[in-house]
Parts: sequence; structure tokens; C-alpha cells
Amino acid sequence: MKLKVYRYYEGMVSPRYDIFEFEPYSGMTVLNALFQFQEQFDDSLAFRYSCRGAVCGTCAMLINKIPRLACRTQITSLINEENKISLSTYPAIEETVPLDPEDEVLVEPLPHLPVIKDLIVNTSKFFRDYLFVEPVLKPSDPAPEKERLMEPAAVKELEQYTNCILCAACFGACPINGGNPKYLGPAALAKLYRFYIDPRERKRKSRLKQADIPYGWWACEFRGNCRLVCPKNVPPNTAIAKARVELTKNNKSR
Ligand code: SF4
Ligand code: FES
Repeated sequence: MKLKVYRYYEGMVSPRYDIFEFEPYSGMTVLNALFQFQEQFDDSLAFRYSCRGAVCGTCAMLINKIPRLACRTQITSLINEENKISLSTYPAIEETVPLDPEDEVLVEPLPHLPVIKDLIVNTSKFFRDYLFVEPVLKPSDPAPEKERLMEPAAVKELEQYTNCILCAACFGACPINGGNPKYLGPAALAKLYRFYIDPRERKRKSRLKQADIPYGWWACEFRGNCRLVCPKNVPPNTAIAKARVELTKNNKSR
């Protein structure tokens, strides 16, 4: 099996791909293969990881042209094309090197973010958008002695969005993020919607207004890649659609 890895450092004229031959073992993940690459081929390979358990969100990268978590993607699942995902295509995944999935694993940095080195991207834009939506609860009443109780149904609805681990896989998979550098992106909008539906939030309607701008809710074209690649099954496209319906209703009732 071959691991084909994108290599780049600042000042390089153009990126190159290194090829490393390895023997996959049962349960081996792409992250394990990258460690082997470092140990046996070139220890200067740069990539991010921390928890190794699909929790910290740092190891998202383009694996066989799909944004995925390296720590959660098993090599055998790629060979057997298990959980096959067909994305709505966009230049960042169409224009890379060819791939033979039976014999190769292609690993590249997450699209739509500048590459710092090899598989490490600068996530500043992603987190700037996240901060733009002010991702903190602004409750309507003073803090109670114990806790604020919520209806189980409301908790269930919220959980879909609070499961986000900020891996930016959706950001890398979204064709709109590639073409419109101002677009807030799926994760930030899903987070904003999460505060709109939170019954403890003080000014829920103003949450909707925060992204009632050309590069907010209205920039999405519902290509659906965000939901397909999300390792936590967060549905940003659903949040965006529901927010638009609410905004349209509010505008009509004015
Ligand atoms: S919505 Fe999903 S894909 Fe996007 S940042 Fe959150 S966990 Fe990652
Ligand atoms: S290393 Fe934390 S999500 Fe992969």
C-alpha cells in the first residue's frame, strides 16, 4: 500500500507528493500511517493531532479527496470504500493528483485554508468566523442557585449542534467557502442557529439577524457537503435552511 502525502513549506516553488510504502494492519488509521511515515521515512513531516479519539478536532485533513479525521479513518475502510461519500465537487478536490484507492491513500491539507507546512493549515479564518457569531450563551435571567432546567426535547434539538468539535472538515468541504472568502461557513452558522433555538438565550431573534447578511445565511447554496463529511453528524445545512425560513416569516409579519 502507498501513502501519498502532500509536502509543502514556505518558500517552496510548488508542493510535492512523497510516496511511502507501508503494510496496513487491522485497525490501522491514517494517523497511524502518518506516524509510520515520520518514523521510517521523513521525521520532518508536519501534521496536527491531539486526542487521537475524534474529540479535539485537530486532525482533519483531505483523505482520498474527502475532508475527514485522520484519527478516525481506518485504512481498510478506504480500501474497501466503506461509508463511501460522494461530494458535490469543487476545484480543491478536482484539481489534485490522481488517486488509485485500491493501492493508495492520498493525504492532503484541508482545502480553503492557507497551508503553513505539509498537512498543517492556518485556521485563523475558520475561528474568526466562529467568533463573529459570538458563540456564548447570553441568558435572559440571572444565574439560578442550581442549574437552568430545560425540556428534554429542547436538549435533543440543541445537541445536534453542540456536538461540533470545530474540526473545520465542513469548511474544507464547502464549495462556497472556496469561492467566497467572506462566507461565514457551515460550522459558524450551525453554532449561531444553536443559540437561536436555545430557550435560555435572551435575544433569540437578534441571533438570526447576526447572519442576515449576504455572506451569512443567504450565501449557502445547499450543496450538502458539510453534513456528509461531519464526523459528528452536525447538520449545518438544516440549520441554515431553518434560519432562512424563520427570517422570511419574520420579515413577512413586519
Ligand atoms: S460541524 Fe462537523 S465538520 Fe463542521 S466543524 Fe463541527 S464537527 Fe467539524
Ligand atoms: S486527534 Fe483529536 S480529533 Fe483526531
